[in-house]
Amino acid sequence: MEPTPQKLEMFYEGKAKKLYSTSDPDLVIQYFKDDATAFNAKKRGTIEDKGVMNNRMSELFFTLLEKNGVRTHFVRRLSDREMLCKRLQIIPCETVVRNIVAGSMAKRLGLEEGRDLKRPVVEYYYKSDELDDPLIYPEHAVEFGWASEAENFAIKVMALKVNDVLRKFLDERGVILVDFKLEFGRHHGEVLLGDEICPDTCRFWDKQTRQKLDKDRFRRDLGGVEEAYHEMLRRVES
Ligand code: TMP
Repeated sequence: MEPTPQKLEMFYEGKAKKLYSTSDPDLVIQYFKDDATAFNAKKRGTIEDKGVMNNRMSELFFTLLEKNGVRTHFVRRLSDREMLCKRLQIIPCETVVRNIVAGSMAKRLGLEEGRDLKRPVVEYYYKSDELDDPLIYPEHAVEFGWASEAENFAIKVMALKVNDVLRKFLDERGVILVDFKLEFGRHHGEVLLGDEICPDTCRFWDKQTRQKLDKDRFRRDLGGVEEAYHEMLRRVES
């Protein structure tokens, strides 16, 4: 194993994570916070040990995805809250894959939550806090220079592969993968999956009871937030 590079200055702080540069220009350290926000940070709170749980769960999911041929930024977990990652030039589009109607799709289209989609639906959102991450078409990303046609294609193929792999893995652990959000970036010209995969960025429902095991418990004041994160980690680790 390569020696761990030295942690240098923080160069980015987001709502749930901080990024530090390292003595290796190709690598960064991703630090996971306990801060929780919703509705573009209009709602704020803390979820105890969320950073520790999301770091560990992301490690498990990224490792599983790499094993199944999805290239990610994950190098290795360094500590409870820190992960070593390849440095990405982030593509400013969020990719959402949905298997079941929920969240903003239910609201936008006036549908009830919980209806199965016949095929996974892939959506794209422009990453912009000022604009509240508007829904876009992949054509917008090409037009405005956020991603090339080839990158859009790679992103869609990777997003659907992530869906297939995670859906099966979670189904075996009694969890329905309702929907999730991914971020991608470039590393030496190659598109890699970045960010994190955890209950902040996915909707997980218990297969038997359909109980929510994700950040919707915080967004919607349902209580039992920490318990849901712990339960998801327990199932993913089993
Ligand atoms: P949505 O239904 O609110 O559009 O969310 C779709 C998925 O994306 C859901 O699994 C939660 C995740 N998500 C994020 O990771 N970050 C966000 O800012 C939002 C709004 C959703």
